[in-house]
Amino acid sequence: MKTRRIGNSSQTVGAIGLGCMGMTWAYGTQNLDEAEHIRVIHRALERGANLIDTADVYGPYTNEELVGRALRGHRDQAFLATKCGIVRGPGGGAFSLALNGSPAHIRASVEGSLKRLQVEHIDLYQLHRVDPNTPIEESWTALASLVKEGKVRHIGLSEATVDHLTRAQAIHPVASVQSELSLWTRDWLDDVIPWCEQNGASFLAYSPLGRGFLTGAIATVDDLAEDDWRRNNPRFQAESLAQNQALVSEVKRIASGIGATPGQVALAWVLAMSPAILPIPGTRKLSRLEENLAAADLTLTPETLAALRKLRPAVGTRY
Ligand SMILES: NC(=O)c1ccc[n+]([C@@H]2O[C@H](COP(=O)([O-])OP(=O)(O)OC[C@H]3O[C@@H](n4cnc5c(N)ncnc54)[C@H](OP(=O)(O)O)[C@@H]3O)[C@@H](O)[C@H]2O)c1
Repeated sequence: MKTRRIGNSSQTVGAIGLGCMGMTWAYGTQNLDEAEHIRVIHRALERGANLIDTADVYGPYTNEELVGRALRGHRDQAFLATKCGIVRGPGGGAFSLALNGSPAHIRASVEGSLKRLQVEHIDLYQLHRVDPNTPIEESWTALASLVKEGKVRHIGLSEATVDHLTRAQAIHPVASVQSELSLWTRDWLDDVIPWCEQNGASFLAYSPLGRGFLTGAIATVDDLAEDDWRRNNPRFQAESLAQNQALVSEVKRIASGIGATPGQVALAWVLAMSPAILPIPGTRKLSRLEENLAAADLTLTPETLAALRKLRPAVGTRY
């Protein structure tokens, strides 16, 4: 596996990582197969795809617990990333969420994550969302104190703006920004990604497969489980989904022309956008993991990149 650096540090990780969210949350929770998920994590580590991403809110907590079980005996192989700052909202449902970036919450959260992950330290601790009710300076100072205490090695933000990043960077280096990036979500290419390049931060591209859509595996909403969060996502509503098929058809056509799968083209495109980018595709299946990791060796020609860039991004908002 090709490697890329984490932020400005000497730490390198596999150019493609593994997102674990779907293993316990969000994309259907019936018939989950923990043994297969653990095989996926172990195989990713074996292949050098060692950036393993989870969060306390996934489940909540069950995702970190699963990752903790998978990493028993494998801790040294992994670059372990988790997140805090999203909590269950007043609605009480699985997807009713609220934000808490207070120093007290951050300090309590890291203890919970270390315990569930069964580790002495977290390699990358990320604020999942900037809390509008807590100045970023307060959240970031709390995160920086965890680095000094040795509980976490690097700190990052998720869904942050250039303003947040600049304010955080003035206090402690921002190792990474995690935000959505794919052929159907190109929002950050003109501001946050250049900021990362200029300031030595990594950009962790989440949902790089367009939440699975860009692989061509989702034709209609009926392909999603009854409790799948995507059923509520604007891009997966029948009318938008139908219009978005035009994008996936083009990706399929380009992929077949170069002997790759649509998912591999989607991942190679993300990788090609900047050397600061680390895509973290999620999968629960071993065969898909192998397919996705092979994208690290797929180099798209300037002509292919230009053709992909011309495609219309998604119909429908991200959330
Ligand atoms: N910071 C944030 O706010 C945030 C938000 C969302 C996600 N994330 C992180 O980013 C990671 C990845 O994002 P994501 O899971 O939302 O989206 P994604 O990686 O774009 O897509 C995942 C979906 O694609 C399917 N899939 C994966 N490989 C495939 C293949 N080769 N062929 C067909 N289908 C395939 C998966 O199904 P199977 O699992 O059944 O294979 C899953 O439904 C998450 O695990 C999480 O760590 C972060």
